[in-house]
Amino acid sequence: MSHTLKVTFSALAAPGRGTLVVLVDGALKLGAAAEKKFAGLAALIARAGKAAGFSGKAKTSLACPAPQDIGFDWVIAVGLGDAKAKDTPDFVRLGGFIAGKLGAAKDVTVAFDPPHGAADPAAAADLSLGLKLRAYSFDLYKTKKSDDESKLDSLTIATADPAAARKAAHSRDAVAEGVIIARNLVNEPPNVLTPVEFAKRAGALKKLGVEIDVLGMKELEKLGMRALLGVGQGSANESRVVIMRWNGAKKSKARPIAFVGKGVTFDTGGISIKPAAGMEDMKGDMGGAACVTGLMHALASRKAKVNAIGAIGLVENMPDGNAQRPGDIVRSMSGQTIEIINTDAEGRLVLGDVLWHVRTKYKPAFMIDLATLTGAIMVALGQEHAGLFSNDDTLSQNLLAAGTATGETVWRMPLGAAYDKIIDSKFADMKNSGGRFGGSITAAQFLKRFVGETPWAHLDIAGTAMSSPATDINQSWGSGWGVRLLDRLVQDHYEK
Ligand code: BES
Ligand code: MN
Ligand code: ZN
Repeated sequence: MSHTLKVTFSALAAPGRGTLVVLVDGALKLGAAAEKKFAGLAALIARAGKAAGFSGKAKTSLACPAPQDIGFDWVIAVGLGDAKAKDTPDFVRLGGFIAGKLGAAKDVTVAFDPPHGAADPAAAADLSLGLKLRAYSFDLYKTKKSDDESKLDSLTIATADPAAARKAAHSRDAVAEGVIIARNLVNEPPNVLTPVEFAKRAGALKKLGVEIDVLGMKELEKLGMRALLGVGQGSANESRVVIMRWNGAKKSKARPIAFVGKGVTFDTGGISIKPAAGMEDMKGDMGGAACVTGLMHALASRKAKVNAIGAIGLVENMPDGNAQRPGDIVRSMSGQTIEIINTDAEGRLVLGDVLWHVRTKYKPAFMIDLATLTGAIMVALGQEHAGLFSNDDTLSQNLLAAGTATGETVWRMPLGAAYDKIIDSKFADMKNSGGRFGGSITAAQFLKRFVGETPWAHLDIAGTAMSSPATDINQSWGSGWGVRLLDRLVQDHYEK
């Protein structure tokens, strides 16, 4: 599938070969266990550090041959900087940083013995998560492997209490797998990942105890999802909606929370066709659906104590003789009619029907949708925040906090009647495009017309789901953005 890293936990040992990663503080001091175990190592790092200008600052490292007889051949010292009681380091990012420094090393042991004294099992497990996220690569379609690309398959974290770290790693592994599922889906080419194939892959969550309903063409027609079906009608590939249900709450009848994803497996723009340059990126226009699928995997795999629904609208937006036209008027499942102004504003048509269906059928406590919805969100926020639009202050606060905690940050954007009236139509109840000004906001106003009084948040992830700048924990085109954010949101606020 893709390259992933296996991490095991053990007590600190010296295998007689390989690479040892140690953590040092801003005075090049080692943790107590490493200091004791590896005689001469601190002195070597001090000497080599002086020569190389390495002083243990955070986000710096030094590699050098190991001293004789410590049971390793090579040492990488990783700086943590000065200990400040208030800011404990982000061990997920640290794990990513370390994985980025390993080069072609084999037999790697990371001595998790922070000199600042934070060697708790949760931190060791966070480190493992970061290592795994950084080590991921998608090379399914490369038939030749270059030698310098020899990749590490497994690594050991040596820590004081390996059993406790292993236990803490269960939930992190669930999240790592969820992120990787989302990345794989986004990275897959659009000839492979059609709506039908995507639905099949979401079906794999059954083995974790997730209930799966795949709605096919007949069922979608019967439900009246004409807005969603209109987007797919120019494609040779049939549309699908998949509903995933995880029932983990103590009270099985507890109201579910719901996540809804835009799953346009390829967006040509339709008859309002996009320019050729960069159009290949539109294979990632299912990033919202990928995130929802990865999140449902994470929740089920770590047996989250919550009832959650994941709903994804899967369509391909293509131009052909049967494609939808600008000027068409479609009737959505809600009964509201929509004038199509631009067939490239397709995501909102898909989401409007799925949001309406989820709201009326499952009566969720809240709905959060994720969508690579507008290019305009990148004009507003760049690729450093996703846009957050919401009718609910509590939900927004919780999302903002989860964003700060995970580094998957969101920025709240406005909604209001003055924006809403921009999408009133001369011929129907609304139109699917309000033009260039406030493009992300009018798109959100459109979605709002399908959520009623349900607390709702919309995340515009066009800038963050794909092709975003590489970070310590992500080097992949498809980032899997949102899985960690929403897993954290659920964990911090909605598990009972
Ligand atoms: N999928 C695109 C938005 C997008 C653009 C995502 C670039 C990721 C990168 C969406 O369907 C779209 O085409 N939006 C239009 C809306 C417009 C026609 C009102 C846009 O943003 O230009
Ligand atoms: Mn589009
Ligand atoms: Zn799109």
